[in-house]
Amino acid sequence: MHCTFVYNIEKLTFQREENQMAQAVAEHGSREQEELLEQALEGFREKPGMLIQALHRAQNLIGYLPPWVLKKVSQVLDVPLSEVYGVVTFYHFFSMKPRGKHVIQVCLGTACYVRGGQEILDRLRKELQVEIGGVTQDGLFSLEVMRCAGACGLAPVMRVDNDVHKRVNPSQVMDILKDYQ
Ligand code: FES
Repeated sequence: MHCTFVYNIEKLTFQREENQMAQAVAEHGSREQEELLEQALEGFREKPGMLIQALHRAQNLIGYLPPWVLKKVSQVLDVPLSEVYGVVTFYHFFSMKPRGKHVIQVCLGTACYVRGGQEILDRLRKELQVEIGGVTQDGLFSLEVMRCAGACGLAPVMRVDNDVHKRVNPSQVMDILKDYQ
């Protein structure tokens, strides 16, 4: 209920900003990227109910979801650009910015927060010299926050790519990252 409410508010806001978005989508990918994306989205043509799947496909292909990709998804699926933008900004697993080779996501849902999620995040920011939403200078890691990884009983949790690390102690985080070079 709360999520639906937040989503609707965001959707309304983005509808108001649609003109600004239309300007922002002026940039393009390379010709090769655009052709690959076109092919990848062909199976979703005029299927608005497949929006999330199409965005996953696009992100896996391009690495992230810049404005020109959102515009292409909007055109192919015949979904308003404001709706595409609203979905991308609502779900934490979509990113409109380039990401590092590995994506670290620290859970700051209630259970993880009270059991030390913030300390994990602070440790990572300090050790990696990167802010939330940023990428380390060597391009190896992105640092992000997520709402709940669905493993509250094993909090605090952090995810690196598809691996969920449970009951993480802040002192362990750099050892965990040694496996991701
Ligand atoms: S709050 Fe972190 S896994 Fe649920």
